[in-house]
Amino acid sequence: MTILLRAESVEKSFQLEGRHIEVLKGLSLEIEAGERVAIVGTSGAGKSTLLHLLGALDQPTAGEIYLQGEALTTKSHDELAALRNKRLGFIFQFHHLLKELTALENVMMPALIARVSQAEAKRSAGELLERVGLSHRLDHRPSELSGGEQQRVSLARALINRPPLLLADEPTGNLDGSTSAEIHALLESVNREHGTALVIVTHSEELAQSMPRRLVMVDGRIDQDDKQQMKRDCADA
Ligand SMILES: Nc1ncnc2c1ncn2[C@@H]1O[C@H](COP(=O)(O)OP(=O)(O)O)[C@@H](O)[C@H]1O
Ligand SMILES: [Mg+2]
Repeated sequence: MTILLRAESVEKSFQLEGRHIEVLKGLSLEIEAGERVAIVGTSGAGKSTLLHLLGALDQPTAGEIYLQGEALTTKSHDELAALRNKRLGFIFQFHHLLKELTALENVMMPALIARVSQAEAKRSAGELLERVGLSHRLDHRPSELSGGEQQRVSLARALINRPPLLLADEPTGNLDGSTSAEIHALLESVNREHGTALVIVTHSEELAQSMPRRLVMVDGRIDQDDKQQMKRDCADA
């Protein structure tokens, strides 16, 4: 078993208009390489805050997060940016695509930042967009794509540098049922084909039930951690 990500006694608080708000209250967690984890919990429980910390988008107030054994708080701003670029993929509820760029260019961007050649980035982005069923939409800008298509572009973008971990914050939160199911199926196949670990915050009970591990967050803590390892073994049999 290889530990990909480890959070140790993580706390996070914010100062808001002179008030001190404790959001994460000492949370520890280990995620293995290739694991699929759903995070559920009521609104305000701290799910997005946790995901931001796990993804090195923000720093904990106390505690430590290790990605592939490396402590994130010891890293410089530039080191964290490089680490996010190469080792983490993100998908948010609102896709955060660059609206001036085409689908192809959006997907190429993280590869170009990682200094992959233009030709190689283009080839790889084209392949990924084909993989998510968008080879006929390469030159469309986000505003010329449906919500589900935009989310598929952001999935392709998250994967271009082949990160070992994909973090998603309610990736299908604003999509209809059948479009959500398509995105879920894609995430599943990415995990299966590339061994990409998935940590997905979701309101979808269906998605959460389909994942081998389900974390329930309540008030800044992990209240339940259910491993349902049997499920996948049975499904694969
Ligand atoms: N930047 C911030 N400043 C102040 N409070 C924040 C900030 N980010 C989140 N919070 C507060 O932390 C709590 C948890 O937020 P969040 O992690 O977004 O919850 P969830 O994603 O589970 O709905 C909320 O009460 C929210 O208002
Ligand atoms: Mg949230």
